[in-house]
Amino acid sequence: MSRSRRAPAPIIRLTHWAGALAMLVMIGSGWQIYNASPILPFEFPTAVTLGGWLGGGIAWHFAAMWVLMGAGLVYVVYGAASGHFRNDLRPAGPRSVVRDIGQALRLKLSHKAGHYNAVQRALYTGVLVVAVLTVTTGLSIWKPVQLGWLTWLFGGYDIARCIHFAMMSLIVGFLLLHVALALMVPATLWGMVFGRRMPDSDKESAS
Ligand code: HEM
Repeated sequence: MSRSRRAPAPIIRLTHWAGALAMLVMIGSGWQIYNASPILPFEFPTAVTLGGWLGGGIAWHFAAMWVLMGAGLVYVVYGAASGHFRNDLRPAGPRSVVRDIGQALRLKLSHKAGHYNAVQRALYTGVLVVAVLTVTTGLSIWKPVQLGWLTWLFGGYDIARCIHFAMMSLIVGFLLLHVALALMVPATLWGMVFGRRMPDSDKESAS
């Protein structure tokens, strides 16, 4: 089997699912914390928040933060050391992205399990950068005294909090698209869950 037909490596799958779960907990608990002191003229409905009250939200948020940071660190070290980033995630040029978006809109984009197209590469690289910004702005508003230099780097506490919120919004937008695409091409979901190709998935599917 050629390299491009392989399912994601066990470490990628483990860190992806641990990170995804932690991210969902962080979003729900983050919305709970936000509701205690909104920066925009709305609150998140209780049904989609986690923790029940401010203290509960904070407890969930910090517990999931360690899981997210641990999984993220293992993922980044493995991705860099194994060549996974270089071989599978390196963004293709803007032309390839435009070409692949055009093909996707015409439902002609090749989306093989084990090979990322230009749109996926751009989205995955982008969301990884956004995730790093989410964690670092989060740290800067958690410890604005001890990590004063980081808070200063983001323009101060209030701006860092706005950036943290904006990054969360980008991640939620990514998630909606990402999960929709994964459901449209079940072979990719199968590979990410079970680590092998879905039976009968030799045919390429459009997404
Ligand atoms: C919770 C629902 C999620 C589902 C169902 C899901 C599903 C998937 C699937 C099926 C793939 C493989 C795509 C392919 O082989 O073509 C994938 C890869 C990926 N997902 Fe998710 N995902 C979820 C959450 C997340 C979250 C929260 C993030 C980050 C914010 C994320 C970031 C990524 C990245 C970066 C990759 C590429 C991994 C690599 O090969 O290094 N996913 N996801």
